[in-house]
Amino acid sequence: PRIIFITRHGQSEDNVLGRIGGDANLSEKGRKFAATLTEFVKQKIAAFAERTLAEQQQEEDEERQRPLSDSIALANGHSHYPPATSSLHEYPTSSETSSVDGTPQPSLEIWTSMLKRAMQTAEGFDPDVYTIRHLRALNEIYAGKREGMTYKEIMEQYPDEFEARRKNKFYYRYPGIGGESYADVVQKLQPIIVELERKRHSVMIVGHRAVVRTLLSYLMEIPTTHMPDMEVPLGYVYACEPRPFGNHLTVWKYLE
Ligand code: G3H
Repeated sequence: PRIIFITRHGQSEDNVLGRIGGDANLSEKGRKFAATLTEFVKQKIAAFAERTLAEQQQEEDEERQRPLSDSIALANGHSHYPPATSSLHEYPTSSETSSVDGTPQPSLEIWTSMLKRAMQTAEGFDPDVYTIRHLRALNEIYAGKREGMTYKEIMEQYPDEFEARRKNKFYYRYPGIGGESYADVVQKLQPIIVELERKRHSVMIVGHRAVVRTLLSYLMEIPTTHMPDMEVPLGYVYACEPRPFGNHLTVWKYLE
């Protein structure tokens, strides 16, 4: 078992001014969120690891109490009951898996975009303890020629573009070299989703509004027609726990 935490960066200086895109630093408020988030996620991961150990203990106890005839049936193809060393507890626990060469892996990886506001949000995690990755694919939807503008400015100066986006936000692509649509963001995030699926331990993703919407819509099976308008305010932390037949979602709200 593991948790996938997803959140947006803390408030940036551009958020204060209502400007989209860009590569601004965190505001004072954003830095406070970053510090709180760091402690919150560390505590949650520790609590989760404890819960997992308790569950494992219970499984082992049940295994020990199982009648020998059942155990032989479970051995499935083995001619005799496997020795105790090959029973369940020999496997690495979910909170501390081992790599092929036996080096212990941290129980939590942190992935952020390559934008300063996201990297600064994860700065409180010690890189000697946690694997921290900055991935370009997690960068916010790129607004091309409209980077750095406010929605009001776009509406006033480029009303046709504003209307075109309002009508079809998923496929609308911002003008200019590298300008993106939500459909482009979905493509951009494919390698992240593949990597996320194959991970065995917990991951915290610090992204951006469009990125969080896209990841949540994938994990929680939210249709793409709803996805570009989903409410994902700053300060919300989403925790997805993969379970049989779907992910379980818990949402926390940061109270300043
Ligand atoms: O800077 C871009 C925004 O965070 C993305 O939000 O797709 O609702 O305009 P939007």
